[in-house]
Amino acid sequence: MNKIYLPIILGTTREGRMSELAAKAVEKIVVQISEDITTEIIDPRNLNLPEDGTASLNPDFQEKIKQADGFIFVTPEYNHSFPPSLKRILDAEKDLSPYRIKPAIIAGVSSGMWGGVRVIEALLPVLRALDIYVGSRDIHFYKVQEQFDESGELLNPQIATEVEKAVLDLVKKAKILKSGRESLVA
Ligand SMILES: Cc1cc2nc3c(=O)[nH]c(=O)nc-3n(C[C@H](O)[C@H](O)[C@H](O)COP(=O)(O)O)c2cc1C
Repeated sequence: MNKIYLPIILGTTREGRMSELAAKAVEKIVVQISEDITTEIIDPRNLNLPEDGTASLNPDFQEKIKQADGFIFVTPEYNHSFPPSLKRILDAEKDLSPYRIKPAIIAGVSSGMWGGVRVIEALLPVLRALDIYVGSRDIHFYKVQEQFDESGELLNPQIATEVEKAVLDLVKKAKILKSGRESLVA
């Protein structure tokens, strides 16, 4: 069976970002769920995208998007929306076909108690423009500064369960949409 590839797209480049810990916690849970799932964190710091709207010339990133069966966005909430680094990633491709008809889940990260509810809502219209499908299971790293120990381990079992449920749902949808896409080109 082909493995399901679910890259984790980290939303921010900020120095001291807590979202990196959240992304790593999600990565750890994803690999524990099944050996049939592969993942990795795509870090906007490593993409070297030009500041303006120039199309991406990063073939490595383009190949990852093409290979992806679904996406996991881990993004902090900045002024009720997502950071420009995440928008820059999503604006980088002229050809949107590698994104199309693929599912996603979103983990919001915030220091406040709402766990990025507003950034999740703000991201939806952008993902819709890329023809990415988001179901009803979100992840909320609320009060993120309280959720990790010094070694970066996630302490909160409720958030871990939320991640696990959302990822299992994503895997199901990734399989359904993958076979749907394959049946279209067959
Ligand atoms: C520019 C900026 C705007 C922010 N706006 C919000 C906000 O609207 N709502 C919120 O809950 N937290 C907000 N925060 C706090 C973040 O939730 C906090 O930094 C958290 O650790 C997640 O972001 P990080 O990955 O950059 O650390 C903001 C932080 C920054 C740097």
